[in-house]
Formats: sequence, C-alpha cells, structure tokens
Amino acid sequence: MCPVHVRRPEFDVGRSLLAGVLNVNRNENFGKLRAGYLFPEIARRRKAHQEKHPDAKIISLGIGDTTEPLPKYIADAMARAAAGLATREGYSGYGAEQGQGALREAVAATFYSGLRTADEIFISDGSKCDIARIQMMFGSKPTVAVQDPSYPVYVDTSVMMGMTGDHNGTGFDGIEYMVCNPDNAFFPDLSKVKRTDIIFFCSPNNPTGAAATRAQLTELVNFARRNGSILVYDAAYALYISNPDCPKTIYEIPGAEEVAIETCSFSKYAGFTGVRLGWTVVPKALKYSDGTPVHNDWNRVMTTCFNGASNIVQAGGLACLQPEGLKEMYDMITFYKENARILKDTFTEMGFKVYGGNDAPYIWVGFPGKPSWDVFAEILERCNIVTTPGSGFGPAGEGFVRASAFGSRENILEAVRRFKEAYGNK
Ligand code: MLT
Repeated sequence: MCPVHVRRPEFDVGRSLLAGVLNVNRNENFGKLRAGYLFPEIARRRKAHQEKHPDAKIISLGIGDTTEPLPKYIADAMARAAAGLATREGYSGYGAEQGQGALREAVAATFYSGLRTADEIFISDGSKCDIARIQMMFGSKPTVAVQDPSYPVYVDTSVMMGMTGDHNGTGFDGIEYMVCNPDNAFFPDLSKVKRTDIIFFCSPNNPTGAAATRAQLTELVNFARRNGSILVYDAAYALYISNPDCPKTIYEIPGAEEVAIETCSFSKYAGFTGVRLGWTVVPKALKYSDGTPVHNDWNRVMTTCFNGASNIVQAGGLACLQPEGLKEMYDMITFYKENARILKDTFTEMGFKVYGGNDAPYIWVGFPGKPSWDVFAEILERCNIVTTPGSGFGPAGEGFVRASAFGSRENILEAVRRFKEAYGNK
C-alpha cells in the first residue's frame, strides 16, 4: 500500500511552495546568537571602510591570520606528496580517520615526549573544527565555563548546541564566565567560579596573550579534579611561550591526564591557517562518570564525522616535525614574536597599558572607559588599521582592543608609524 501523506491542517503545501516558506522550525539556539561570528563581522566593517575610502591602504592586525610564505622544506614535502598522488605507487585514497601513524608518532614525540602516546593523538583539520566536534560529543546537557575574555568559538558552539540560555545583555545565561583581567593577572579567581561539567581554557590566551604559570595550571587541574569536570585545554599558541615557568602542554601537570583534553594546531606555527592541520589529545585515562573512556567516544566522532586530514597536508605536518621543518617553524614563530615586541613597545612608549605579546602573538591594549567597538572604529578611521574589539571575546574584553602580530615586517612598521601619528600625543 502507498504511504498516506497526511496534510497538516495548519499548513498549506501549495501556498508554502509558492511562497518559498518551509514547514521546518529553525533550531532555536541559533536565534540566541548575537550578530554574526566575530571575524566575518570585522571583515564586513573593513569592506565597508574600503568602499568609503577606496584609496586607503588598510593594514589588518585583526584576525590572527598568518601572512608569511610557507617554509620551503615544508612546502616541498607537500608538493612531493601531491605529485606522488599522480602516480600509481604514490596514490592513496581514504586514510585513517585518526591520522597517519607516522604523524601521530611524530606529534607525540615532539610535543608530549613521555607524557602522551601516539594512540591518544587524533590528527585533524584544525582546532576550531575539533572544538565544534568536541561539543557535538558532549551533547546539549553539560554546563560550561569559559575564560572571559576568550576565543569566541567556545561560547558560540555552546550556544549552538543548546547548552546555554538566552543572551542577557551582558553574556549568555548558563555560561560561567571566569573573568580574567589585569587585576587578577589574567588568571581567574577559582574560589569564585561555579562548578561546571566542561571548562574551556586557552593558554597562552587568545585574546589577552597571557600564559598561565605552572602553579596556576596546577590550581586549574586540581579545581577540575575536585569538581569532576572536563578541562578542554586549547594550546594553539603554546610554542609562542618564552617564560620557562609556563608549561607548553597541560599534561606537564600531574593528574591532568584524568581530566583534560588538549587541542592544538599547526596554523600559527607553520603558517597553516589555509592549509589546515591540527590535533586533539584524548588520554585513555579520561573517563566519564560511568567509566566509559572519553577516547572511545572521540574515536566514534572522528570515524563518523571526519574522513582524516588531507594526505598532502599530513605530509606537510610530518615535514614540520623533522629537524629542518622544526627549525623553519621556530624561525617563523620568532619572526611573529618580534612583530609582537615591536607593537607592544610602541603602545607602551605611547603610555598605554599593554598586556600579552611576550608569550603570544597577540597584544591586548587598554582603552579604559571606551567601548571597544568604538575604539575599533576610531582606529580604522584614523589609521586605516583593522584591530579586534575586546568585547568580541566576552564581556570582560570591554575597554580593550587586540592587535595581532601576524603581518609582514613592512606592514607592522607602517602600522607603528600610523599609531604613533594618531595616538603619539594622547
Ligand atoms: C583569531 O584571530 O582569534 C584566530 O585567528 C581565529 C582562529 O584561529 O580561528
């Protein structure tokens, strides 16, 4: 018998098709989000400014997008892998969803020697995508804490998943905002933080550039352990750390393997923002309350929702971790860190309160009492420079702007000249 299509009385199919109106409810969580995602919104404002001032030579210190060409040894490895795909012997199709064994081994040896094993490392197309997939794994029920300010992906994906209430004019109901500001040296007062199921923590922090010390991370891990919370530790900028007192991975802290997932990326190390390669570490000792290893569920997510990072790109990742590639990667980081120093010195000399920049490619400049979107607009108007308004990273970012150190030296020096001209006598 043919299935009978029951016509819903309140819905006129013919009228709907003509009008182009679906009979599908929108995911109500998307209605809670405020404006668009931060960086496309900034790009939109930049475009509008360019249209208004067609001759303006705009410099972007906004989104943290790398600008320097790929290092040669690393690019050559990808070129060889691409050429190999055109041969019968070199061709490969689907790879392991978790990543190539050699690359997982190399990541484990290079970044987690003695701390984590290769089978706990999952290679991916980047940390941002992994954060979204991690949220999918958690589902809509867990409660969430974030540093305030922090990388907007943690909050926005929590909202999309339905983990939060509505925006209350300051932040989202249900999210625990852990305020990080100059008064607490950008480390939250955990005695005032409510217990949540998940804690997102980024060190060195995007956007403040603050790197947490060993003592602070020990406090954080102990807090997570006491509360039985999962720490999602974003270490995407770890290699920018100079301070020997600041760990480069959360697994340097004893006991972290029972509470922490760590995510990291080649984007800001090797100029892979467009190439796309990252990884997430899920220790086997991390277990849900019913004893299920989180590792099992993460493996299920990756095998179901991901088909493995590009084989060409993984060849590039492997090259990054050979002695020649490592040198090229560290040279690139040193270059951007010098940019950060130049920017930080400039704002400091002009009398601003400036944070970050020593252990991160971001500097965090205070404009006390001024709404940060207004400061963003003023800098764009007066200097033709794009920054990122602090409030885009959370309520505690109000009164700050972030300047990214990713740029050619020529652009950074030109930006410095323009900043001095506009704000030198503030
Ligand atoms: C940023 O500017 O915060 C980053 O580039 C964004 C990202 O890594 O996705």
